[in-house]
Amino acid sequence: MTATVLTEIVAQGVMQITMNRPERKNALDRASYAGLIAAFAAAEADADIRVLLVTGAGGCFTSGNDIRDFAASADDGARIAIEFLSAISTATKPVVAAVEGFAVGIGTTMLLHCDLAYAGASATFRMPFVTLGLCPEGASSYLLPLVAGSKRAAELLMLGEAFGPQAALDAGLVNATVAEGAALAAARDKAKALAALPPQSVALTKMLLKRGQAASVAETLATEAKHFGERLRSAEAQAAFAAFLKR
Ligand code: COA
Repeated sequence: MTATVLTEIVAQGVMQITMNRPERKNALDRASYAGLIAAFAAAEADADIRVLLVTGAGGCFTSGNDIRDFAASADDGARIAIEFLSAISTATKPVVAAVEGFAVGIGTTMLLHCDLAYAGASATFRMPFVTLGLCPEGASSYLLPLVAGSKRAAELLMLGEAFGPQAALDAGLVNATVAEGAALAAARDKAKALAALPPQSVALTKMLLKRGQAASVAETLATEAKHFGERLRSAEAQAAFAAFLKR
């Protein structure tokens, strides 16, 4: 496991996965994605792990994909990010998220694949794909209209403005908002409750909840990935990355 992703058994049957690059607001670079993918694979392979709890270090969930990697990824695009999205979207065990601080880009879209999510009062969400000259990822172009409605999805994905925990709740991205700093405890409580339930019944229920969308999610991930890879190389995106890195 890489140091930018930490795993720890925090309660019986609960593996906490912490995105841990606080000096970069937990921006996900290739090593971080590799760590997340390895953590999800380890959890799938270990019958003692019943629930995954995803969070970020330093009072921040994640600022999304590392923009330096975006700027440099002319060849393989966001391949490893897509591998992670594939892992989280097909996880057979429940995934619970605790969001404090920023949840940007994939930090927001990964919540669409979590079974439960809790946000602290000062959490800030944003999907600035268009702002960056990119396009939606994480199957958000399919799942967000389903959970948030088409108008709200267009607003969040096209304008790419930041929004708070209440708007995230209204959009169906989180289950509840809690006091600032209380998201991890809230998420951990629910993770522990899930871990205490009959695991085969939990897994079956998750499968039944997801099966109607599974093929469309996989197809949308692939379609978005193709466009996203092209957009990464576009002049619009490269100019946006350069502007961020020059700040
Ligand atoms: N990729 C690379 N570096 C990032 C990053 C990212 N996604 N997000 C933050 N960082 C870096 C900053 O460049 C800064 O580095 P520095 O200390 O060398 O200047 C450091 O992390 C701290 O970030 P900073 O911007 O100073 O924190 P902030 O609290 O003022 O703002 C954010 C936090 C998340 C709002 C802001 O950093 C941001 O907008 N990041 C980019 C988010 C993004 O567009 N992600 C991609 C989505 S598809």
